[in-house]
Amino acid sequence: MKVVLSYSGGLDTTVCIPLLREKYGFDEVITVTVNVGQPENDVKEAERKGKIYADKHLTVDATSEFVEMLFKLIKANGDYEGYILGTAIARPVIAEKIVEVAKKERANAVAHGCTGKGNDQLRFDNIFYQHGFNVIAPMRELDLTREWEIEYAKEKGIEVPATKEKPYSIDENLWSRSIEGGNLENPEFIPPEEIYEWTTEPSEAPDNSETVKIEFEKGIPVSINDKKMDGLRLIRELNEIGGRHGVGRTDLMEDRVLGLKARENYEHPAATIMITAHRDLEKLVLSRKELKFKKIVEEEWAELAYRGLVNEPLFNALNAFIDETQKRVTGWVKLKLFKGSVLPVARYSKFSLYREEMTSFDKKAIDQKYAEGFSKFHGLQGRLYREMWKD
Ligand code: ARG
Repeated sequence: MKVVLSYSGGLDTTVCIPLLREKYGFDEVITVTVNVGQPENDVKEAERKGKIYADKHLTVDATSEFVEMLFKLIKANGDYEGYILGTAIARPVIAEKIVEVAKKERANAVAHGCTGKGNDQLRFDNIFYQHGFNVIAPMRELDLTREWEIEYAKEKGIEVPATKEKPYSIDENLWSRSIEGGNLENPEFIPPEEIYEWTTEPSEAPDNSETVKIEFEKGIPVSINDKKMDGLRLIRELNEIGGRHGVGRTDLMEDRVLGLKARENYEHPAATIMITAHRDLEKLVLSRKELKFKKIVEEEWAELAYRGLVNEPLFNALNAFIDETQKRVTGWVKLKLFKGSVLPVARYSKFSLYREEMTSFDKKAIDQKYAEGFSKFHGLQGRLYREMWKD
């Protein structure tokens, strides 16, 4: 019996390896680490450990599939309750790669290290079930505590990296870094600086602001400061620039799919800059009605993405609507970064619906006297109501 385990190299998934042998009776455990832009070193560490503890290890690159997904997210201004969806949107991409390996290896089951409390189990399972796989989730099924895991790991000769002082659960990819657990689970507790790795504390960021120019083609970012680059490099570069200025930290209460509220901490400089720029450009080119309706579409899109339901037919339908609007989202935005804030300060598009000659205080392209007739009807019903009800 063979099982393919989605492997991060962390304590939970490493403990899963002997558990899959001992408690579930598999004689072959294959670990697979999927690269979605997490630090190079994490991938290497996972590879090193997988090779030691599992029967076979594979590292699979999914950065281009992930960037494709992130382009959809940018076009949808992806945001669930203020969360930029970094972990959420990566899970189905990882799951698809695990399935590919499991099929090739003719595995009897797939496994993951998610607990029964979070969203990740739902996102993984959904894709695994779709491909007809049995899913093993030792963390969820065996209700393990961290202490037990550490003891068990020691017993099995597995190195234990997480120390008592830093018991955080961290999930990192190209789009975001998520920090959970330990003392952060108390919402009254202010997070220590040590939880952050991508972003400078805003008050310690440079005293001079920096302006970046981002160019979009059909809703997709294509250049920074007039330097063309592919999605992967572009996001990495913006994470650098934004991180330096302390841009893109989030500390929020989040409603998980199961209904549990959770305190979540994230850092995501590129995401914040990119979505701020993209929204600004949309305001220049999209009509009022499009903007208003797209908000509803975005809300629905983010909900599906958060739940990992990217295989829903509605997800494709929403993307089709969004793509129709993005045909004109071509142009650039300049943003000023300063001590944790990011402000759009200039924008341009050849598809702009703004007309300076019409709006300007100084120009006469519009005959203002026509507005008087318009104004006579504007607010008509409210005035009629006020006439009758003088309270
Ligand atoms: N709350 C976020 C989500 O549901 C982040 C989860 C992070 N996962 C983790 N294993 N640390 O998408």
